[in-house]
Amino acid sequence: MAHKILITGASGLIGQKLTDELIKLRHSVVHFSRTLQQGKVKTFVWNIFSGEVDPTALEGVDTIIHLAGAGIADKRWTPSRKKEILESRTRSTQLLFETLKNNSNQVRSFISASAIGYYGFNEEKIFVETDGPGNDFLACVTQRWEAEADKINELGIRVVKIRIGIVLSKRGGALAKMAKPINYFVGSPLGTGKQMMSWIHLDDLCSIFSKAVDDAKIYGAYNAIAGWNTNAEVINALAKILNKPIWLPNVPAFALKMILGKMSEMVLNGSRVSSEKIKNTGFHFKFSKLEEALADLFN
Ligand SMILES: NC(=O)c1ccc[n+]([C@@H]2O[C@H](COP(=O)([O-])OP(=O)(O)OC[C@H]3O[C@@H](n4cnc5c(N)ncnc54)[C@H](OP(=O)(O)O)[C@@H]3O)[C@@H](O)[C@H]2O)c1
Repeated sequence: MAHKILITGASGLIGQKLTDELIKLRHSVVHFSRTLQQGKVKTFVWNIFSGEVDPTALEGVDTIIHLAGAGIADKRWTPSRKKEILESRTRSTQLLFETLKNNSNQVRSFISASAIGYYGFNEEKIFVETDGPGNDFLACVTQRWEAEADKINELGIRVVKIRIGIVLSKRGGALAKMAKPINYFVGSPLGTGKQMMSWIHLDDLCSIFSKAVDDAKIYGAYNAIAGWNTNAEVINALAKILNKPIWLPNVPAFALKMILGKMSEMVLNGSRVSSEKIKNTGFHFKFSKLEEALADLFN
């Protein structure tokens, strides 16, 4: 069945690809963005801090996919940046709640991005969706973001929260950041290199969002990861596919702490997350082996 889908933050890494995929599947798509975008779909401008929003954007929309949020790894975590990371997610979700509550609409499904950062860092166990949240900064942000999304359920709208792992894409995100030094012959594992990275190919992530649009039996939280590998395994596999040597020693943790500040905890620690719940809905990953995912992206 064709849906009319409103996507927030659609100009980003996931939103651009997801828009293309949903259009290919014959859905109709509109965007909410902070700036007017000229593109293949109609964009409505919103301002989450002034509360400016055009309710006509909701006309005919039955599904909202909420991706908007300030980039977690784009800038150092100063107090004002941390505030922006949190509020760009919580206030945008609150604005969507108010807009849905105060305007007639046909929205039946609200699918929000979330992150495996919800669980915090712990490599002893494999996290499942019923596990509680961690207590570091990203875990607190994710928890509050999900709590705002859950309120939309009070409006009789199905709420799905996709807890996304590290997205593998050539065009941006963590992989592009890791590939850059490798391409300049100065790549090497970070810290001990043993920290676990739970990852997903961007194509598989888009397929999970698409399944969540179509399948009304899907609700609540779902982990979106295909597999996990150590940081050293990812760096070495990436170097192999890029045909570049890794000859430098690991970047020491203290150097990363100096360069990245508090944000270094994100690259020096990891977690392993289960994908059994989404698989039990009948979802099949196209890429469940790191080497195959990288070969698809770089060959
Ligand atoms: N990529 C990953 O590995 C990953 C992993 C886990 C979770 N996620 C989550 O998935 C969502 C989408 O990820 P992505 O990689 O596509 O992110 P992205 O490339 O950074 O795009 C996010 C979009 O959010 C909007 N945005 C940025 N700053 C904002 C602000 N201060 N206030 C309101 N909106 C703002 C922008 O859209 P406009 O300029 O059009 O408004 C931007 O294009 C994010 O919330 C992210 O946290 C991503």
